Amino acid sequence: MDKIKVSDKTFRTYIPYEEFSKNIDRVAAQLNKDFENAPEPPVLLCTLNGAIMFCSELMMRCSFPMELASIKVSSYAGTHSTGVVEVKQALTCDVAGKVVIIVEDIVDTGYTMQLMKQFLEEKGAKESRICTLFYKPESFKFKDSIKLDYVAREIQNQFIVGFGLDYNELGRNIKDIYILDEE
Ligand code: IMP
Ligand code: MG
Repeated sequence: MDKIKVSDKTFRTYIPYEEFSKNIDRVAAQLNKDFENAPEPPVLLCTLNGAIMFCSELMMRCSFPMELASIKVSSYAGTHSTGVVEVKQALTCDVAGKVVIIVEDIVDTGYTMQLMKQFLEEKGAKESRICTLFYKPESFKFKDSIKLDYVAREIQNQFIVGFGLDYNELGRNIKDIYILDEE
């Protein structure tokens, strides 16, 4: 088994790119079906920095007209959610009256998506949908109130890095997904 060190922690191979790439194909096909006849182009909103790789792979597979925007939020310190979500960099386009597809790297507790949906509503978005690469159902706290519209892949409740996801800002450039090898 392949092991790597990111900062002070050891991670082992978990999901190779070739495998989760098929999960991305599936959500892109769902989006294509849902938006091919949309009256107005939706805004694909990349949540920086984590969703950057997923967002670009998704865009390559999506054939409907869309606008691209980004926003930076943060909630994690080290390997745990702080529960306090902050908008670190403003929204890059006007979403008033538009359908927004929030593109996220991973949904864990759900606090980030809760804040994002509330934030977009305040900015006048007509509707917001969530499209996430990974989802940890065991730690999600909003099963009754927040719908995860497009989920590429569910994973176990463990900390992962790679493909945009970081451990203290490192590891985002690793192509495959690695999981924490120690607690
Ligand atoms: P939530 O607010 O608890 O749902 O956390 C979502 C955010 O925390 C994501 O956008 C990620 O940036 C980060 N995050 C959650 N789980 C992981 C993980 O396993 N590895 C890296 N980042 C994570
Ligand atoms: Mg993120």
